[in-house]
Amino acid sequence: TQRHEVEQLLAPLRLSRADLERVQGLMRQEMERGLGRDSNADASVRMLPTYVCNTPDGTERGDFLALDLGGTNFRVLVVRVMQEGIHMASEIYVVPTSIMQGTGEALFDHIIECIMDFQTKQNLMEQVLPLGFTFSFPCQQLGLDKAVLLTWTKGFSASGCVGQDVVQLLREAAQRKQHLALKVVAVVNDTVGTMMACGYDDPRCEIGLIVGTGTNACYMEERKNVGTVEGEEGRMCINMEWGAFGDNGCLDDIFTTFDRMVDEKTINAGKQRFEKLISGMYLGEIVRHILLAMVDKQLLFRGKPSLKLQTKDIFQTKFLSTIETDGLALQHVQDILRDLELDASFEDSVLVREVCQTVSLRAAQLCAAGLAAVVEKMRENRGLAQLAVTVGVDGTLYKMHPHFSHNLQQMLQDLAPNCAVTFLQSEDGSGKGAALVAAVACREPSP
Ligand code: BG6
Ligand code: GLC
Repeated sequence: TQRHEVEQLLAPLRLSRADLERVQGLMRQEMERGLGRDSNADASVRMLPTYVCNTPDGTERGDFLALDLGGTNFRVLVVRVMQEGIHMASEIYVVPTSIMQGTGEALFDHIIECIMDFQTKQNLMEQVLPLGFTFSFPCQQLGLDKAVLLTWTKGFSASGCVGQDVVQLLREAAQRKQHLALKVVAVVNDTVGTMMACGYDDPRCEIGLIVGTGTNACYMEERKNVGTVEGEEGRMCINMEWGAFGDNGCLDDIFTTFDRMVDEKTINAGKQRFEKLISGMYLGEIVRHILLAMVDKQLLFRGKPSLKLQTKDIFQTKFLSTIETDGLALQHVQDILRDLELDASFEDSVLVREVCQTVSLRAAQLCAAGLAAVVEKMRENRGLAQLAVTVGVDGTLYKMHPHFSHNLQQMLQDLAPNCAVTFLQSEDGSGKGAALVAAVACREPSP
């Protein structure tokens, strides 16, 4: 009967193939609506134009600065794109929560200070290098170097930025700091930066995927299908902002009570609903809420709650990665739980592992359903019976979790059998891709 109760609790988190097909269909529908000329106002997937119209062709050259803001780390980089290959040097800087959630001025001042520190350390103060800015938030782009922030996501909420061009905010901060030699030439989303970075090594890379703090994807869409920009010829990369999928209610029957509890306690409740089922910022929280429910039902820890387990974000997503590692001694699981002041028996550890597996499997499968919609659309766009395509992918969860990538790939193959999809992990972050976009921008007059 204990087993029966556990099953009952976890059942809503176990998605059937039919559920996933439905999610795939809904994603496809939202994609079409987002791309549409006028109906995109109520589409939950924004399908934002990026003004990136080509993947790298290997002829890009030059020295660039790059910024990478919005993931676990804020980085400043110098990227040298040469015939022999790409050389990079970078520095990681901390963005404290007080700055993420303070004023826009303080945030952009901080960014400029970090750039100045980096340039000093790298002996680059005297040069004016073109800068590519990876800014991993939804932006309405009006060109390669003009990006209006639509809304903050993940943990950010700096005031006075939404509705503003982030390049302008950066320039204004540079002026405040008397740093007059700043030349921003391109803003890209991290998905785009990742696609470009991987595209440098694999010309078939026409999709970018992030499964990290947040989740999102971009891909090369036929320009004639993009109702929101002029032009019929060729392709343009579309930043889907799929994290917001479901914000219009279309996924409501997938959400469980645990998902709702997690969502309610975020700074952007009701938003980024798909992201909150999948990405690293939220999976640990989902697990924590399930564990609390199990304690409540006397299914775990002899029904004894720990004060610590009631603390938000105490169960980090990296614990899922460790706990799910094959062959990991249960002793190790007990150690993690002991740090949370939980005295776990052997059976408790087995059950906690099962909860983690259930949550991360669902995340991978939902991600697969989203990706299946993308590759199938690309295949149809091109009138192909079979599509071979590469996905450039980055993000801590994808890279660190022992089973996420396998589960994702397996489900994708099942849902999109006519597409042969190769996954290519990005090794050096999306700053490299931002520099490649900057390189193209410096070569061609902007559209
Ligand atoms: C990095 C990119 O490689 O991956 C970042 O350079 C991106 O811009 C990140 O946001 C996503 O991963 P995470 O796990 O740091 O959010
Ligand atoms: C969030 C952001 C999106 C980004 C993703 C991955 O969903 O809105 O722009 O690509 O996180 O970092």
